[in-house]
Amino acid sequence: MASYAIKGDFIWTEEPSRFRTMRNGYLVVDNGVIESLTEECPENYDIIDYSGHLIIPGLSDLHLHAPQYAYMGLYMDEELLTWLEKHTFPEEAKYGNIGYAEKAYTAFVKDLLSGPTTRLSAFGTIHADSTLLLMRLLDEAGFYGFAGKVNMDRNSPDYLSEDTDVSISETIRFLDSAEGNIKPIITPRFIPSCSDKLLRKLGMIAKERNLPVQSHLDENLSEVEWVKELCPWSTSYSDAYDHFGLLGNTPTIMAHVVWPSDDEIALLSERDVFVAHAPSSNTNLSSGIAPVRKFMKNGVKTGLATDVSGGSSLSLFRVIQEAIGVSKLRWRIKDDSDSPLTTSEAFFLASKGGGAFFGKVGSFEAGFDADFSVLDESLINTPLDGLSVNERLEMYIYRAADKPVFAKYIKGKKVH
Ligand code: GUN
Ligand code: FE
Repeated sequence: MASYAIKGDFIWTEEPSRFRTMRNGYLVVDNGVIESLTEECPENYDIIDYSGHLIIPGLSDLHLHAPQYAYMGLYMDEELLTWLEKHTFPEEAKYGNIGYAEKAYTAFVKDLLSGPTTRLSAFGTIHADSTLLLMRLLDEAGFYGFAGKVNMDRNSPDYLSEDTDVSISETIRFLDSAEGNIKPIITPRFIPSCSDKLLRKLGMIAKERNLPVQSHLDENLSEVEWVKELCPWSTSYSDAYDHFGLLGNTPTIMAHVVWPSDDEIALLSERDVFVAHAPSSNTNLSSGIAPVRKFMKNGVKTGLATDVSGGSSLSLFRVIQEAIGVSKLRWRIKDDSDSPLTTSEAFFLASKGGGAFFGKVGSFEAGFDADFSVLDESLINTPLDGLSVNERLEMYIYRAADKPVFAKYIKGKKVH
């Protein structure tokens, strides 16, 4: 069905400061793109009737690790570096076995499909074939976005470390083999895992092939100290990525950015780098609280991320809750000049803010891709009625975060 109109109660954000709503509206979709959102019933369109249901734009998960979903919810008593060594690296090594990868990635894609996420930028593992399989499974399920074969050639256990030249040749094989709607993205794990030679070469490949880049930045204090030792010539962690051509020469996502200096914030803003704010992960791994208000004040492009399995839920609704919650704590105990995020601001980051990495995604404005979820509020057990559309969404975010959405469309196609 190339053209149709969706009927229901719509809520979205065009800018962070406020929600827009339309009850009993019609979202007119032509070939996967939004033509209009109107109160008039459009003529000559098939109507898909979700009357009484809340309908929200697709949410974008700017950063998560598909291979870590298998153990999500375990091992939360560590900080980043010991967590990686003790739990993450041994699990990721299993993806050298394509049979294991198929089983684990099938479960991951199935569970992601029933939630509100429509776009994602995922890490795979160092294994090219397993990562290509992940991309195929996501594509077949109807998702759009990016996934990357991870690069690691130093400070990694033997069972999850690559020879530098093999890491490069496998990356090229991965790039040349990728097909479908999940596109490849250059994915150095982080500076401690990649030699200077590997980082330099990945920066060159990204530039030559005009490919996006994703990595981790300023997540944890011990990690930041380690990067200073590894790159004594750098003025900051961001400067180290920049030195290797990995900071915004092409579209770039940096996850976390909990401990940036003011100079780094200015550089991220100047380079149009997207920050993937992952508050659940930052709490679970005791990383800290990212200065999201400062990002917004300084024009840093920002979206939300689960960072599964540092984050312990696939649900971006839960990440919205946590983004609001940690911003309140930061404001109260760290910096009272940075006001907490409001519900509309956090929702904007999860929808149009992060969606901008993928194109015109995350709003109900004309010309945006028709990504949206239809919610089922009957899953919430309350006798309250007569709530406003805004109140219905707020309650859904807090009380139904991990429930399946009622229906989901990506680029106009029903996927769930
Ligand atoms: N830094 C390097 N690798 C990882 C990872 O897998 N998860 C998180 N949260 N941070 C990282
Ligand atoms: Fe991560």
